[in-house]
Amino acid sequence: MRPLPQWSTVAVAPPQAVVTATLRWAGKSADVTAGHTVASLKPLAIATDLDAGQRPLLEYRDSATARLLGVLQLARAAPATTEDPSVVLYHVEAGEHRCLRWPRRPWNAWLQNRLMSKNQSSPHSALAPSAVQQLMIAYLCPRPVVLVSVDAPGHRNIFPMDLIGPLERSGLFSLALRSTNVSVQVMCDVRRVALSSMPATMKEVVYKLSEHHKQPLLDWDELPFPARLSREFGIPVAAAALRIRELAVVHSQEVGSHRLFLCRIVSDEGLADGVQLHHTAGFHQAYRRRQGMPFTEI
Ligand SMILES: Cc1cc2nc3c(=O)[nH]c(=O)nc-3n(C[C@H](O)[C@H](O)[C@H](O)COP(=O)(O)O)c2cc1C
Repeated sequence: MRPLPQWSTVAVAPPQAVVTATLRWAGKSADVTAGHTVASLKPLAIATDLDAGQRPLLEYRDSATARLLGVLQLARAAPATTEDPSVVLYHVEAGEHRCLRWPRRPWNAWLQNRLMSKNQSSPHSALAPSAVQQLMIAYLCPRPVVLVSVDAPGHRNIFPMDLIGPLERSGLFSLALRSTNVSVQVMCDVRRVALSSMPATMKEVVYKLSEHHKQPLLDWDELPFPARLSREFGIPVAAAALRIRELAVVHSQEVGSHRLFLCRIVSDEGLADGVQLHHTAGFHQAYRRRQGMPFTEI
């Protein structure tokens, strides 16, 4: 028997509302559907836009039925806040999902872990198997994919990201970028980027651009699609994007394997309605399929 794919690439109308994320601590709870994001993969860390005490639970529920899909046990990091006191960092201590029934749930995890240990080239092979399972739980809220454009004298680049998102209560928008990405230092210096929200139909070209996590773009003329300039910064973005946002970096700091950029939105242009490329966990898609309402897979 083969395991489910770890990730499922799906088409979702933004902002996703199919799954609700809630923090629970000390008898209190808060909706963090638009208020939490992955800050680092190693160790697996979550940034939130409110302080939920030392050891909160992060629950993911099906918005339509309120059914629990998965839960992560968090533990406050030290130091607890980022350079911005309104953003709090947690490590993931444990997690479990309810998308598959027993015994398929542990059996699927075992098969996925075994496959990953055989395939050392997978992007998450450096993580402990338990951390990858927990990361999949964090993807129960389908994560939108954007292209990030960077433009500075002598350096230009564009690459896909999904470890992104609003931290609504703080007014900030975060990007978690592996510290080995070739544009990290330039982003720290120029402190501005533009995000293109990518239509689901452009999956192939978006994935192709992931090579630019390692090597910069030589010339904007090389782009495999028509570009236009972002409104304030004049940075090339995808002309076919559903939405263009320009971000000014307010703070950036290293969190484990990643650099966490906390940004303010400088401009926000909605260009088209449509479904955006998203990632979710394979076991989430399996759950949706069993409910007779699968995501459109791309
Ligand atoms: C759709 C997509 C989204 C990605 N999002 C992120 C991200 O948010 N942060 C990040 O550091 N890397 C991101 N990556 C990069 C990959 O994790 C990986 O580092 C990159 O593709 C290079 O892979 P390799 O090191 O295995 O060759 C993304 C890649 C793809 C294709």
